[in-house]
Amino acid sequence: MNTIVNGLQWGDEGKGKIVDFLTESADVVVRGQGGNNAGHTVIVGDRKYVLHLVPSGILWPDKRNIIGNGVVLDPVGLVEEIETLEGQGVAITPDNLLISDRAHVVLPYHRDLDAAQEEARGKFAIGTTRRGIGPTYSDKATRCGLRLADLMDADLAHELIDVRLAEANQIFTARGLPTHDAAEVMKRVAAALERLRPHITNTIPVLHEAWQAGKEILFEGAQGSFLDIDFGTYPFVTSSNTTAGGACTGSGLPPTAVDRVIGVCKAYTTRVGEGPFVTENEEIGDYLHGLGREFGATTGRPRRCGWLDIVLLRFACMVNGVTDLAVTNLDGLDEREEIQVCTSYRIDGIEHPFPPAEREAWNRAEPVYESHPGWRQDTSACRTWDDLPEAARAYLTRLATLAGARVSYVGIGPDRAQTILL
Ligand code: GDP
Ligand code: IMO
Ligand code: MG
Repeated sequence: MNTIVNGLQWGDEGKGKIVDFLTESADVVVRGQGGNNAGHTVIVGDRKYVLHLVPSGILWPDKRNIIGNGVVLDPVGLVEEIETLEGQGVAITPDNLLISDRAHVVLPYHRDLDAAQEEARGKFAIGTTRRGIGPTYSDKATRCGLRLADLMDADLAHELIDVRLAEANQIFTARGLPTHDAAEVMKRVAAALERLRPHITNTIPVLHEAWQAGKEILFEGAQGSFLDIDFGTYPFVTSSNTTAGGACTGSGLPPTAVDRVIGVCKAYTTRVGEGPFVTENEEIGDYLHGLGREFGATTGRPRRCGWLDIVLLRFACMVNGVTDLAVTNLDGLDEREEIQVCTSYRIDGIEHPFPPAEREAWNRAEPVYESHPGWRQDTSACRTWDDLPEAARAYLTRLATLAGARVSYVGIGPDRAQTILL
C-alpha cells in the first residue's frame, strides 16, 4: 500500500513523526516538494532529530529514502544536515539516500534574492524562511534554473549561472546589495556537490521498480495545505504544491500508484510567518509557549497558535483526497477546561463552510465556534483508543465528522512510541 502523508494546516503538523512511525512497515520514503524551509522533528527515546531535506525514514536502517525531482535542494544545507545526522550516529550512504538528478538547486544568490524580495515587499512581506525557496522555484518556472544534472557539468553550469547572474545582479546593484560571480558561486557549492555526487541519480526508474515489485512507498509532504501555491492563503504561501498532486509531480510516480492519503493535523492550529489565521488566539499561544511547545524547527520563531479550524480541514481533506486523519498534539489540550472548534467563517454576515479566495475576505472572516468540554487529564501515557478520556474521544469523533475523514492515528506526545493506531 502506497501512502501520501501531507499536512492539512500551515505546516508543522507532525508529518515527520508520522512518517517515521509508518516507515517501520514501509520500504521507500520519498519527498516530492519543498526544500530546507521544512523542519521535521522526530524523537526516539532521548534522541531528537530535525530533518530538513532528508526524508524522515532515514532513522530506520535498510529503508530507501529518496529526494525527488520536485524538491529544491540547497547542496550546502543538505551536506550540513547529513553531517549532523552522521554525528548522531545515522549512517547515510547511496544505499539509503538517493537524490534526483532533476531536482533544482538552491544557489547562494537565490537566498539573497529571497531576502531582497522580502525587504521589498514592505508591509506585504510573507515572512519566508529566507532559504531561497521562492526564487529557486520561480527560476524553475521561468526556465533559468539549474538542476543537479546541470551542475554535474562544471563548464555548462558556469555558463548558465553567468547568464542568470547578468539579470540577478542588476537587482542586487539597484538595491545596493553585493553582487554574485559565477566562479565564486561554483566554488561555494563545489565541495558539497562532490559529497552528494554518489547519491545523485535518475530516481524515477528506482521508484517505479519499487512500485512494480510491490514495495511499500511513503510520500512525505513538506509544509501544509494552506501553504500550497494554488490552494493556500495566497500570497502567504510557499512556492510549491504541498497538496496530494505534488507527491506525483515531485516524484515521477503517477496517481495510480497512490492507495491512500493520510492527512496530518494538530488538535489545534499553528502557523509560522505572516498571513491570515482566523482562529488565532494569543492566550492559547502563551499557554503552549509556556509549556515550551510551538517554536519553529527551522527558524526557531515562536509559532502563532489558535483553535482547531474545520473550515481549513474540510477543504484540505477535499483537495488532498484524505482517506485517514492523523491528529497530533492532542496532549497539548490536556489541561484545557473548554475547547473551541471553528466550524465555519462568517464573512459579512454570511456563513461559509470553505475558505475564501479574496485577501480582504480573509481579514473580515470571523470564526463561528462550537464548544467542547476538556478532559483535564494527562493523555501522554495512553496507548489505545480506549485509554483516552471519554471527552477526548468525543472531540476526535466530532472532528472526524466535521472534516469528513476517519481518524486513524492520534499523537499524544512527540516520541515515536506516543502514537495511537486505531
Ligand atoms: P512537521 O514539520 O510537520 O514534521 O512538524 P514539526 O516537527 O515541525 O513540528 C511538530 C512538533 O510537534 C515537533 O516538535 C514534534 O516533536 C511535536 N509533535 C509531533 N506530534 C506530537 C504529539 O502528538 N504530541 C506532542 N506533544 N508533540 C508532538
Ligand atoms: P514543514 O515541512 C511551517 C512558511 C514560512 C512562510 C511561508 C513561505 O516543517 O511543515 P518559504 O520559505 O517557503 O518561502 O516561506 O511558508 N513555511 C513553513 N511553515 N512549516 C514549514 O515546513 C514551512 N515551510 C515554509 O514560515 O510563512
Ligand atoms: Mg516543521
